[in-house]
Amino acid sequence: MSVLIRAISAYVPPIRISNEELAARIDTTDEWIRSHTGIGARHIAPDGVQTSDMAVSAAKSALEKAKISIHEIDYIIVATATPDYFGFPATACIVQDKLGAYGASAFDVTAGCTGFIYALNIASSMLETSHGRNALVIGAEGLSRITDWNDRSTAVLFGDGAGAAVLSRIDETGRGCLSFILGADGSGAKDLYLVQPERAKAFERQPPLVPVISMNGKKVYDFAVKSITVVIERLLHKTAYRLEDFAWIIPHQANARIVQAAAKRFSIPMDKIFLNIEEYANTSAASIPLALSEMDEKGLLKPNDLIMLVGFGAGLTYGAAVIRW
Ligand code: ACO
Repeated sequence: MSVLIRAISAYVPPIRISNEELAARIDTTDEWIRSHTGIGARHIAPDGVQTSDMAVSAAKSALEKAKISIHEIDYIIVATATPDYFGFPATACIVQDKLGAYGASAFDVTAGCTGFIYALNIASSMLETSHGRNALVIGAEGLSRITDWNDRSTAVLFGDGAGAAVLSRIDETGRGCLSFILGADGSGAKDLYLVQPERAKAFERQPPLVPVISMNGKKVYDFAVKSITVVIERLLHKTAYRLEDFAWIIPHQANARIVQAAAKRFSIPMDKIFLNIEEYANTSAASIPLALSEMDEKGLLKPNDLIMLVGFGAGLTYGAAVIRW
């Protein structure tokens, strides 16, 4: 028995903001953004388009590719740091309703940019150990809604989008999701978090909350390079695969420099690493499925290719997965 990624698809909102457009509004330049991050543009959702809408668009297209009906989906997991409603209900429940997946259970995973890897691990374990046969695993983010567009240190980094994978349990062995490593270091929670306005007092009218991203860029940078390195080492140790066995490494797309530093550490040639950060910026939990979807569209993923997903993010969290495509 294996749990296979049967189809992958993505949705990217139509509004594209280039570095030059951003530089016309805040004190930055295309040159600074490219040289420090590798980002050239970002896409943002129009007003009224929620994280669940982007998730639904990606999910519908993944279901079409998988050629299975929504009624065959047993679990819906949405990894997001930007749910439609902070707190509750889960965005996955809204997605369930919009898709009409009434037989599916639905919940969200909050693990920052590592959310998609966490959600994949949870879904594949559920499919292996329970009666379900198919799951939808979605990474979806509307980060433009929690970005302080006047803060140049974060405004240049983020974008919106969604990616969805249809997972199916199959009888064949040795394919699909083969191994995972997940980790966290909560002592870095405040290095990347949503600033909440002061908590309202009990029995008083609550002020509206407008949370915005706060990030200690240097600390997150150092954590990212270290955690990618450590998690790759642990994964190789756990699985006994060698780096040469992998056709592709697909990292969370946060900053091209972070990826280059980790690649240098392992002498991994950059042409083994898929990056599309230039067009989409950092879309948090959506970044890995967005990358996988683009690779799939371009025919870069061949059946039986061994691939590694590796991510890190708010929490602080990190994780990696080995998948036989
Ligand atoms: N445009 C122009 N100048 C800028 C900008 C900008 N957008 N942002 C910062 N600067 C300036 C700073 O003010 C500073 O100026 P100073 O030297 O006069 O004080 C100078 O550039 C250097 O700033 P640093 O913060 O030292 O720049 P650094 O090289 O560290 O790059 C960056 C900053 C890109 C944020 C980097 O620290 C980074 O990538 N960190 C990790 C970010 C990340 O990956 N976040 C998300 C991960 S988790 C998740 O995905 C949710």
